[in-house]
Amino acid sequence: MPFRVTVIGTGYLGATHAACMAEIGHEVLGVDVDPDKIAALQAGRVPFYEPGLEDLLAKHVASGRLRFTTSYEEAADFGDVHFSCVGTPQVRDGYAADLRYVDAVIEQLAPHLTRPCLVVGKSTVPVGTAERLADRLAELAPAAELAELAWNPEFLREGFAVEDTLRPDRLVFGTRSDQARKTLEEVYEPVIGQGTPVVVTDFPTAELVKTSANAFLATKISFINAMAEVCEASGADVGRLAEALSHDDRIGGRFLRPGVGFGGGCLPKDIRAFMARAGELGVDQALTFLREVDAINMRRRSRTVDLARELCEGRFLGRKIAVLGAAFKPDSDDVRDSPALNVAGQIQLMGGDVTVYDPKAMDNARKVFPSLGYAQSLDDAVRGAHAILLLTEWEQFRTLDPEWLRGQVAEPRIVDGRGALDPSRWRQAGWTYRALGRP
Ligand code: UDX
Repeated sequence: MPFRVTVIGTGYLGATHAACMAEIGHEVLGVDVDPDKIAALQAGRVPFYEPGLEDLLAKHVASGRLRFTTSYEEAADFGDVHFSCVGTPQVRDGYAADLRYVDAVIEQLAPHLTRPCLVVGKSTVPVGTAERLADRLAELAPAAELAELAWNPEFLREGFAVEDTLRPDRLVFGTRSDQARKTLEEVYEPVIGQGTPVVVTDFPTAELVKTSANAFLATKISFINAMAEVCEASGADVGRLAEALSHDDRIGGRFLRPGVGFGGGCLPKDIRAFMARAGELGVDQALTFLREVDAINMRRRSRTVDLARELCEGRFLGRKIAVLGAAFKPDSDDVRDSPALNVAGQIQLMGGDVTVYDPKAMDNARKVFPSLGYAQSLDDAVRGAHAILLLTEWEQFRTLDPEWLRGQVAEPRIVDGRGALDPSRWRQAGWTYRALGRP
């Protein structure tokens, strides 16, 4: 302690990890192939919205403990420990994870590794990847016996990335030697010192912890959303059902919020990559249920569109629809696989005049769905609307005053896609209120 640490790939995961490694005392060099991103970070600016991250980054750039570069040579020369934090998106033509960035890190870093170091994978990868990368590292590194691989999956949530990195639920170290384990224990010493549990294991188990955690979370959300379908058919209330279930400690209330379902850069693509990998391993049957988890999730989006259409007397043509929310969840500007934008897009294709408003995700939304209408403010979005759809539960939307809003719209009709509002309060204020899974 302290170590010289590099963090390769400076997206959500990498930028957060780099700032947090500096915060716990290490000297950090962030590495990315994108010179614009590196320039922004070096100037203390975070190129996406993540609460608390910019302050931490600026603090350590100013202190000199955190620097950035585009040079792998410099990184290899600098680092005792190299964290690989690049993305693993879904391939274009299938369910599998695209491993080109993960592979490129080893291909580009390894030939420069001439001094003892530990290369640590953090990305979410198909089980078996670490073993393959370890072989490749041994082939490419000039001082092969000095460079070792370890796997240390990351569980951070967007919106809580700093907190989740500095105070994680657990640390998982996939290692092949005592030396690698010891190095990781020393790197994370301040985190472990707070009492964070550490699970030391082999490569495949470490990789699987991450994919199975995400599969479990996705399953839990789809479970309650499947119950919402049954509630819709039987007149029950999924909100009260979830509340009652949550009092059972064995079930618990977290990730049991019904609504328009999960999106984002992780859960959807991770469950698909997991299914693809299980197929390759000959155990596809073990994960067929994830296909249902995915299907339930996608049906919630169509159901939301149906509810909105029912509110609009069966047609969207000539109707002004205000969509509140574009990010895949609140406190994030990430629109990857966002249920809100998916619903907005479907309604527009059916002839609706859609206007989207989100407190943080407007620029990203415009890039992905340039043809949708966007409002500068909440007021502009809702003015004259024939129906409002609340699809991302930002604080600003959860605390909306139904009396005020009624004065703005053409028709007081709302679809609460996140079960975020109090139905009786809205109905009392004269609204036709509809929510997924609620009477
Ligand atoms: C997720 C995992 O939580 C994290 O551990 C992993 O490292 C990356 O993937 P994140 O993508 O940031 O993190 O989002 P998360 O907070 O898990 O939410 C995922 C989606 O599920 C969001 O669209 C959210 O709105 C939705 N969700 C969440 C529900 O619909 N209901 C819930 O009860 C919880």
